[in-house]
Amino acid sequence: MTSTPLFKTLPGADAPVRVWFNDQPTRVPGGRSVAAALLTAGVSRFRATPVSASPRAPYCMMGACFDCLVEIDGVPSRQSCMVAVRDGMRVRSQDGARNLPPVVAQSPEQVYDR
Ligand code: FES
Repeated sequence: MTSTPLFKTLPGADAPVRVWFNDQPTRVPGGRSVAAALLTAGVSRFRATPVSASPRAPYCMMGACFDCLVEIDGVPSRQSCMVAVRDGMRVRSQDGARNLPPVVAQSPEQVYDR
């Protein structure tokens, strides 16, 4: 029995794009998420846990597990499974806890004035 495939690749979706991962240039297939593109290129360590430095790689591929966090174009803690890959991206693996901006105490009036 033959059947028509349920999924079709968009025209040009697999055209390779050039990205940098940890300062190493690499070509990956386009038309997919950063996570999918890097996995295709053989990347297996996307981040390390803050406590034990255990390596992590994408697991759910749908924005739920946060094991795919990387720095993309200088912005840390991006879910690479939720970001489309594009030519020229600079991606870095993420080690340890992310840096958060300092918390500035505000009065309730300041919060509601936004
Ligand atoms: S792979 Fe789970 S949030 Fe990205």
